[in-house]
Amino acid sequence: MQTASSTFAVPSREPVSPAQVRRRFRDRFGGSPRLFQAPGRINIIGEHTDYSGGLVMPAAIDRRCLIAAAPNGARTLNVVAGVFASQAQADLDVLAPTHSWMDYVAGVAAVLIADGVAVPGADLWIESDVPIGAGVSSSAAIEVAAAHALLALAGHKADGVQIARWAQRAENDFVGMPCGIMDQFASANGVAGGAMLLDCATLKAETVRLPDQASFLLVDSMVRHAHVEGEYRARREDCETAARLLGVAMLSEVTEAELAAALARLPPGPAKRCRHVVRENGRVRRAAEALGRGDLVALGQLMNQSHASLREDMQVSTVEVDRLAAIAQQTPGVFGARMMGGGFGGCVIALADAARAGTASEAIRTAYADVIGKSPDAFVCRAVAGAGEIVA
Ligand code: GLA
Repeated sequence: MQTASSTFAVPSREPVSPAQVRRRFRDRFGGSPRLFQAPGRINIIGEHTDYSGGLVMPAAIDRRCLIAAAPNGARTLNVVAGVFASQAQADLDVLAPTHSWMDYVAGVAAVLIADGVAVPGADLWIESDVPIGAGVSSSAAIEVAAAHALLALAGHKADGVQIARWAQRAENDFVGMPCGIMDQFASANGVAGGAMLLDCATLKAETVRLPDQASFLLVDSMVRHAHVEGEYRARREDCETAARLLGVAMLSEVTEAELAAALARLPPGPAKRCRHVVRENGRVRRAAEALGRGDLVALGQLMNQSHASLREDMQVSTVEVDRLAAIAQQTPGVFGARMMGGGFGGCVIALADAARAGTASEAIRTAYADVIGKSPDAFVCRAVAGAGEIVA
């Protein structure tokens, strides 16, 4: 059983320091909590490929979820989410979804318990400055931070790959969102100063160093479409249909050389999704090569192509996001830009020349303000290490 006093409310996006989180915990629960963090993520390229066993190139970013946690000697999770101005309780012996933010925590507890981890009753205080609903994985950050907290309190050790698998399972089976593993993997396994070239079929990741000249700018379209989850599910089903019709376990098994023949065997919808996935995997490979030789012009072009494919073939963009991406692509100092994340709103990621990122950001915000009637949120992010305990 589980209760939560409010659902997904408007977040505070002010960063809260580890010391403040500890203090808030102590004021509420007393005692000395342990502190855990998990970052949000960007994805440079490789969108809507993870659930087809494809390639992605995410990086953990300097926006994070912080959780202070201590065992409470009972069989309940008492959770305050400062970020949602809300609190919730769950009985560890009867965990069930409530369709609130608490599902991210309770879902992780449920999958850990199902796998034999002795999750103890605990008090938790959650803060986060990861923008919510913008496509930078605020929910994965909560799940991964919660997994670290609950595992540590249970005295159970696990590596970042296993933590990502558990967090994804919580999201799939408990929250009910059929996401791939990219977000949870990036949050759990990020590398400071680098992106990850992740093969979602094998979960093997290589670090891709990011040149100092590369600056990643996120601009929020300020648009959130209804039915995002249903649309995402439908895209995933199209990909699974295409794989089934082609007789492969996952669509990413189809190579670029086989693409034309594969498309001829598919009905129009699944064919479009197939074309996106196969070509996007090729773009991710070429993006890693471009970064290897420090060729930001080539990387920018691949990002632009990715956007066009997400718009035309995966059909997950919106009019506003297309406008924002086009504005960013035409802005001096920007090498390339595309929509990021699941789609239907959220952020555009622009690859900018580090020396010109500030002026590029202002130019994009001003031009896009004419489209939506207000100035959008924007920030430049840094690639940071993945989740872990913060030892004071
Ligand atoms: C969301 C999902 C990810 C991934 C992206 C699209 O962020 O959570 O698993 O599918 O969309 O690339």
